[in-house]
Amino acid sequence: MTCYKIAVIRGDGIGPEIMQEGLKVLDAVSERESFELDWIEYPHGAEHYLQTGELMGEDTLKELDRCAAIYFGSIGDPRVEPGVLEQGILLALRFYFDQYVNLRPVKLLEGVQTPLAGKRPEDIDISVVRENTEDFYIGIGGRAKGNVKKSEKLEIVRNLYQIKFDLDVETDADELAYQIGVVTREGCERVMRFAFELARANGKTKVTSVDKANVLTHSYGFWREVFNGVAKDYPEIETEFNFVDAICMWFVKNPEWYQVVVAPNMFGDIITDLGAMIQGGLGLAPGGNINPEGVSMFEPIHGSAPKYKGKGISNPIATIWAGAMLLENIGEKQASESVLRAIESVLKAGKVRTYDLGGTSKMSEVGDAIVNTINSESI
Ligand code: IPM
Ligand code: MN
Repeated sequence: MTCYKIAVIRGDGIGPEIMQEGLKVLDAVSERESFELDWIEYPHGAEHYLQTGELMGEDTLKELDRCAAIYFGSIGDPRVEPGVLEQGILLALRFYFDQYVNLRPVKLLEGVQTPLAGKRPEDIDISVVRENTEDFYIGIGGRAKGNVKKSEKLEIVRNLYQIKFDLDVETDADELAYQIGVVTREGCERVMRFAFELARANGKTKVTSVDKANVLTHSYGFWREVFNGVAKDYPEIETEFNFVDAICMWFVKNPEWYQVVVAPNMFGDIITDLGAMIQGGLGLAPGGNINPEGVSMFEPIHGSAPKYKGKGISNPIATIWAGAMLLENIGEKQASESVLRAIESVLKAGKVRTYDLGGTSKMSEVGDAIVNTINSESI
């Protein structure tokens, strides 16, 4: 029997409880499909950080590198300053494993209500391919006062490349802060190619590129140029450019226009929260941090929702759907489809729903209903 080692990082807030449901569902489907999942739990998150000072150590990263995939809950805790856990854990993982694609399906499942009047499941089925390693996320920036610079970080070291800025700042502003976004030709090309290949593999006919090339002319003008170059290799696929502000408007007005959307890191972050809302809410939106040649990581796109911690009422479907994406990534396509079908069937039946979908069910009841559906599926 094939056995996959999967790293589990439950994280903070509702992370541990939603992951419980995810593991439950994946265990059920693996039993049915006759493969084994060996869960290896890691304690990383706010509590671990507050107790030990460790965010994500080199030894842990090396261990994770031996796993088939990483299943991630959520991080963020009011006791820790914003950015510390995000950069030290989540972004550290994305960058270390060079998970350059953040694939986020924006798909309205049957039985789910979208806030967009008159839109049906066939109108909302978009694959957002968010670049996941560059842009304003690289952490380069600093502050200056007069000619005194403080807390600068101007260097990034990656497997793909290294970048070092040498900046002199002089100012008579009271004080300034700056953050540098970087996009590279190799970084853009690989994620755009992924988007076109995804379109091709799924019989899609259009890829939309998101930018703000009318204002951030250096970086996103370059993004556009690279996109045009990559598009030449896919002559059968129609292409278009949307400014990020405009795509926010069109996502709401005409989501049916979109099939595959490729976006730089930060705009991709923003438009996928909007995407989550049009697909019925953050409780339903999964994401995969993918390195097609390496270790990938799957997580709900929502945060740790500290307010709901331990209440057992949050929607576990985003996490369970992320689990289905994980199964597809490790090669268990049939199991992955079975999980997605079970999610759809529970949503469509409409009896078991958490409060965000207008129901009163507990999180564990949703997990149980999905497990029961998987177990009762005729072979
Ligand atoms: C997401 C989150 C993260 C991001 C944060 C927590 C660093 O918002 O996965 O979308 O901005 O990528
Ligand atoms: Mn986000």
